[in-house]
Amino acid sequence: MMKKLALFILWASGILFVHAQLPQKGMWKDTDGNFINAHAAGIMKYKNTYYWYGENKGGFTSQDPTSHIERVIMGGVNCYSSKDLLTWKFEGVVLPPEPNDRNSDLHPSKVIERPKVIYNKKTKQFVMWVHAESADYSKACAGVAVSKTPTGPFKYLGSFRPNGGMSRDQTLFVDDDGTAYQICSSEENQTLHINRLTPDYLKCDGTYKRALIGMSREAPAVFKYKGKYYLLSSGCTGWAPNKADIAVADSIMGEWTMLGNPCVSENGDKTYMGQSTFVLPLKDRFIALFDEWHPRNLSDSRYFWLPIEIDKKTDRMTIPWREVWEGIKP
Ligand code: DGJ
Repeated sequence: MMKKLALFILWASGILFVHAQLPQKGMWKDTDGNFINAHAAGIMKYKNTYYWYGENKGGFTSQDPTSHIERVIMGGVNCYSSKDLLTWKFEGVVLPPEPNDRNSDLHPSKVIERPKVIYNKKTKQFVMWVHAESADYSKACAGVAVSKTPTGPFKYLGSFRPNGGMSRDQTLFVDDDGTAYQICSSEENQTLHINRLTPDYLKCDGTYKRALIGMSREAPAVFKYKGKYYLLSSGCTGWAPNKADIAVADSIMGEWTMLGNPCVSENGDKTYMGQSTFVLPLKDRFIALFDEWHPRNLSDSRYFWLPIEIDKKTDRMTIPWREVWEGIKP
């Protein structure tokens, strides 16, 4: 059921802040009143503005005859901007489909998933990596696009298999020293690959690490806390929900250890019926972003965001269910 975004402007201690509540899995609307259409999202902060990039999923869902995977006509990548993480302005289809070129990865008959954008301070370019797929999911490539502005349009540079390996679900992570990594489900989704990128973030530099070998993890989201690296991921069961896990490592290219399922509330063994996509680092906390996929009608898929709770003594991370999403101080 669609619920209403309640927005209360409060004065506290002389500081204006916005307190808002957004019901989880409701149909979140943008500032034009349209439903936010940006699935398998990634968020990038640039100059006090958050940019939410996600898959444009519209129209009817059909099943690919070869892979039997449900899909919609590929609609490119949408972008929304916000200063408070609650009110989102539609910025357009920033990586649009190319309907006139059947061979393009961006032809509507193809699949583009899990867009993630990072900013390269040296080249002053916004760099987007996506999972570039064929309709039957046999291509398993990463695609790269660039833009001079966060709201595009992004110019598509092409796709490849990072370090020669398959690349399906994927994310990007920029370390404190500016080095970026693409983390992807590889080897038929059996093993994650952590691919170090060239300084311009457009290619792989040849150094990579096989991680969580044979553990069949996808939907990776990487973040850093107190010098350690954390990786939230799902199992591999198509659009169906399964158990999440958080892994930890001392170095991003180091040995990763699975810590177990952080979703500790009811239905946590199915990630509250969702799948991870991104972890957003804020000043004092981390927000985990999830998709709830509706494979019979993919364009009706929903979002829910949950804060990661960190035990102050042990650093153990849990993600309890919360019915409403509360905004942050802008
Ligand atoms: C699970 C992945 O996480 C999604 O991004 C998508 O590729 C589906 N599989 C397709 O079944």
